Formats: sequence, C-alpha cells, structure tokens
Amino acid sequence: MADRETWATRLGFILASVGSAVGLGNIWRFPFQTATNGGAAFLLVYLVAVVVIGLPAILAEFVVGRRAERSAIGAFDRLGRPGWRAVGALGVFAGFWTLSYYSVVGGWVIRYVGASFTGAYFGAPNEYFGAISVGPEAVAFHAVFMALVVGIVAFGIEGGIERATKLMVPSIVLILLGLAAYGATLSGAAEAYDYFLSPDVGAIVANAPSVVPAAVGQALFSLSLGFAVMITYASYIGDDESLGVDGVTIAATNTFIGVLAGLVVFPLLFTQGVSPETSGPGAVFVAMPTALSALGLLGRVLGLAFFLVVLTAALSSAISLLEVVVSYLVDNHGTERKRTSAVLGSVVFLLGLPSAWAEGWLGWFDSVAVGLLLPVAVLLVVFFVGWVMAEDAVDELRTGAGDRMDDLAPAWLWALRTVVLLAVVGTVALSLFNLTGAPV
Ligand code: PFF
Repeated sequence: MADRETWATRLGFILASVGSAVGLGNIWRFPFQTATNGGAAFLLVYLVAVVVIGLPAILAEFVVGRRAERSAIGAFDRLGRPGWRAVGALGVFAGFWTLSYYSVVGGWVIRYVGASFTGAYFGAPNEYFGAISVGPEAVAFHAVFMALVVGIVAFGIEGGIERATKLMVPSIVLILLGLAAYGATLSGAAEAYDYFLSPDVGAIVANAPSVVPAAVGQALFSLSLGFAVMITYASYIGDDESLGVDGVTIAATNTFIGVLAGLVVFPLLFTQGVSPETSGPGAVFVAMPTALSALGLLGRVLGLAFFLVVLTAALSSAISLLEVVVSYLVDNHGTERKRTSAVLGSVVFLLGLPSAWAEGWLGWFDSVAVGLLLPVAVLLVVFFVGWVMAEDAVDELRTGAGDRMDDLAPAWLWALRTVVLLAVVGTVALSLFNLTGAPV
C-alpha cells in the first residue's frame, strides 16, 4: 500500500470531509426541513440526532475506511468480509440517486449566481423561483452543474478537492455570519428567533412520528453518512491521526453552519411576512432575494457573494458523491479516471431529468434517499462495525488517538450496538410508514 495517495495534510482531510458535509444540505435543505417540521422542535431533535447517532456513525465509517485503506465496496473485501460488499454497493447507489436531484438544486444555484448580476430575481422572488425551478432551463443548469462536478473529479483528489475546499469553509462562515448579523437588525428577527430557537416539547412529542425520522435523516444526510463517502475519505488518512478528534471537528463545524443558515433564513422570511411552513424547497431561494431587493446595487453584490459561496459548498459535496464511485472503479477495475467520471456523470444527469422537468419528482427522490436508502445503509454499517468487526473497530479508533480513547472507544462500541442501532432501526421503520402513507 506504500504507493497509495494519502491526504497531503491533516487539514486537507478535515477540510475535504467538511467540504463534503457542508453543502446544500445545510443551506438549502436544513432551513426548509426545519420549516416543514415545526421550527425549534425540529432543531432540538436534529441536534440530539447529530450527537447520539451522527457522531458515532461517522466514526464507524471512518474506522471501516482507514482500516481497509480501500474505498466503499473494496473496503469490505479487504476486511475479509466480501459478503458485506453489498453495503458499500448500497452506499454507492444511494450516492448516484442523491446526486441526481442534488445536481438539479445545484443548477438552481448557478441560475441565481447569474441572476445576481442583473437582479432578475428581485421583482417577484416567488414567481421567479417557480419559473426556473422546473422545465427546460432547470434541465440546462442541471447539465452545467454536473459538467462542473465531472470536470473537478476528473482531475483527482489532491488537485481538485483539497484545493477547492480550503477557501470555501472560511468564506461560508464569514458570509453567513455577516448575513445573520444583518438579519438580527430586521423587524422580523424576534419572531424568527422565537420560531427557530424555543422548542415546544409538547409539539415534539405529538409530532414525533414525523419529526424524528426527518431530523435523523437530516443529520445523516448533512454529515454525508450512508453514502460510503466518509469510508472513502477515511481510507486516505494516516495512522497517526485521531479519528475521534476529526469526527468531532467535522460534526461540530457542519452543525454550526446549518444552524447559522437558519439564523440567516428565518429572520429574512419573517421580516418579509413569508410563512416558513409554505416556503418549501424554495425557502432559501425566495428568502435571500426578498431580503436583498431593498438594498439596490449592494443587494446584487451580496446576492452574488452568497450564491457563489453556496455553489462552492454544493460543488464540494457533489464532488464527494461522484468521487466514491469513480475511485472504486479506478482502484478496483483499473478504468481511466477522466473517462469514468464523464460516463458516470452522464448517467447521473439522466437520472436527474425527472426532478428537473416536473414539480414533485425532486421531493420524491429526496424522500426515498433520506427516508430509506440512507438510514438503511447507515444501519448496515453500524451493525457491521458494532458486531462483525467489533474488536478491530475499537483497535482502529484507538490508533493514533493517545490514551484518551482507551475508555472512550469501548463506550463508543457499546453505543453503536445499542442506542445507535435502535435509533436507526426506529427511523427506518417510521420512514417506511411515512413513505407508504400508512397511518402511524
Ligand atoms: N452532506 C451534503 C450536504 O449536506 O449538502 C450532502 C451530501 C454530500 C450527502 C455527499 C452525501 C454525500 F455523500
């Protein structure tokens, strides 16, 4: 394995993983999921889900990846469990599926970058979003987004990903902080904070069957879990690093950015009198222009900065999704990287056509991914790590971590086998009920 690439720097790995985690899931999906699922109640359950499920599960994927030094599917072979390759394959399939509609939303973002120059979205933001989000234009911009993703993946890990993400994370945080500070000065801020930050426990209990799976799904989606992405990325980490520290850093940064996006979007929506419940997938696309239109030219500049940053975040996440499949084929079947990227990118483009063409498909693709594919994939990985490779897993988590992990690693294993496993099983069951529309 001496000649296998590893991350040039530890920061490189953290930034690339954060780059995968932070994306449309934080800035586009999190605000509208929060809005659809009761505001602060959702936020609270989501935060619990990140700590109780997300963090142990991200460590599980890290352990598999670093132990095997192989990406997704090959990892299970290398660990002597070829039967479990199916788990890697499921992750890869989930990645394909997800990327297909993720790219459509990425296309919307590119459209908004362009529209920031002319201010086209200022006049009637709701109508503007309605007009560009489905139909021939949405298809065209979906194609542009996929072409960008393919271009970056074609140039390989170091060249493409590490470089792109170094600048992105600090710029996202700065721009969101600036916008959140601006949002705090608006008339709707108080009402927005109340909606977003003070949970009504009664409402959580009453709506648990829908809020809990939605929040768990969002936590997994947002941390890029269940897609074998973190397995793949961790396969390039050296043995001198503490996986635990990396996991906590990534989960904390990712969650912080999602919450920050909420602190931007909700004050803007409330100030404009737009109800969060009805905003749906257009929430952030309608909120931003509505807020910025009052600022004239400055509004266009800020809009441009915002959508450019969102585009970078979307790209670095999408890259990680495609990278998993490409690196598997390149590692195991000796295919050529550039060609593989182009062929796979085209397949993903075709799969995304329904989501780009007609309303409703995007939401359906998203619920199948987040409600089913992803929790099932995470469930299998957690089971694998907790029961099949238990001893090796604890050993791997300890590697490079110093004595601190001596107690924490067994505790983590225990959590995986009990709380995490049960919680994910519960999520899958509830999601299945919700997806089939059966009463819960
Ligand atoms: N975590 C990304 C986001 O929140 O936008 C989405 C994502 C990227 C999910 C990569 C899965 C993945 F493998």
